[in-house]
Amino acid sequence: MKSFVHKIKPHVQAIRPYELDYVDAAIQLDMNENPIDTPAAIKEAVVKQLQSRPWTRYPELHPHALYQKLSRFVGWPEEGLLIGNGSNEILKMVLTAAIGPDDRVVVVQPSFSVYRQMVQVTGAQFIPVMLTPDLKFDVDAVCRAAKDSDLTIVCTPNNPTGTTLQDEGIRKILAVARGLVIIDEAYHEFSHHTVKGLLPEFPNLIILRTFSKAMAMAGLRIGYLMSEAKLTGEIEKAKLPYNLNFMSIAAAEAGLDHADLLQANVECVIELRDRLISELQAIPGVEVFPTGSNFILFRTPQPGSEIFEALYRRSILIRDVSAQPLLDRCLRVSVGTAEENQTFSQALREVLETAGTSKGGL
Ligand SMILES: Cc1ncc(COP(=O)(O)O)c(C=O)c1O
Repeated sequence: MKSFVHKIKPHVQAIRPYELDYVDAAIQLDMNENPIDTPAAIKEAVVKQLQSRPWTRYPELHPHALYQKLSRFVGWPEEGLLIGNGSNEILKMVLTAAIGPDDRVVVVQPSFSVYRQMVQVTGAQFIPVMLTPDLKFDVDAVCRAAKDSDLTIVCTPNNPTGTTLQDEGIRKILAVARGLVIIDEAYHEFSHHTVKGLLPEFPNLIILRTFSKAMAMAGLRIGYLMSEAKLTGEIEKAKLPYNLNFMSIAAAEAGLDHADLLQANVECVIELRDRLISELQAIPGVEVFPTGSNFILFRTPQPGSEIFEALYRRSILIRDVSAQPLLDRCLRVSVGTAEENQTFSQALREVLETAGTSKGGL
């Protein structure tokens, strides 16, 4: 059969797709999900909503009640909010509305790989700015690049390094940037830090947030942006009608109604994280990087792929990020339940001890 692949834009054909090998494991600590499932009160409210509504009808085009609740929750006007099918969809909307093939997009690296993929689909020039060798933000380098760019994307706390950038650095970037600046706050709840306070001052600031992490709803696909109202209105033009299905709408509303329950769970995850950091720091040879998120980046004396394989043979799945620049011998582990964290850290200790005694034979 004749292929029409040549009709796909050459720069799209050249992109590596976003792929994750689906591998099953008893302990899955590779996706930065919330280890504490959505509270029963939220699930019950959602199920009740779903049962009370005809499924044959479209959801609301503009889910008013959800926008109102979110506006109250975040303390930002409804006109400056845009809710999507995960924050990835919002990223795509911003790129569709603002970025074309002649544009320049600065992205701090290493970071969330979806940025690169989505920027490359637009055909724009992808301009990486590296973290420093000790995995901190190089604010001066980002500023130099942002001065001459149409969009700058910074993730803080950064995935996969956990690095956070304080307001002072962000303020500098926003002040010199020629274009828009996206700050991805997917993990902000785990650092108790947000740049929301800078929104009134910087009309080029777009904050991305998600219900997939602290809000424990990765399976329901809800994310949002906060930005100046006029800018939001323009970005909204790139949104597909009915991008939110009524299950997502019901879940987001229920999550906001019970935000106190979710917040309590965030504090538990932070405690679990801090305990896991101490456990990892106590393993000889393991270097743990500071993190403001629900995952931890660490370096071992052994190649990342070997540690990954050895843990996987014990049915523990984490993320091998060691092929990324600056991340030689690094792996990322998401914070799990107390039992999962214990099993993982004990397994890592044993794997490294075995490696130490057999000189690499994992
Ligand atoms: C930095 C970052 N942004 C966004 C997302 C995805 O968000 P969503 O599930 O809302 O599309 C992730 C998921 O891992 C992430 O790490």
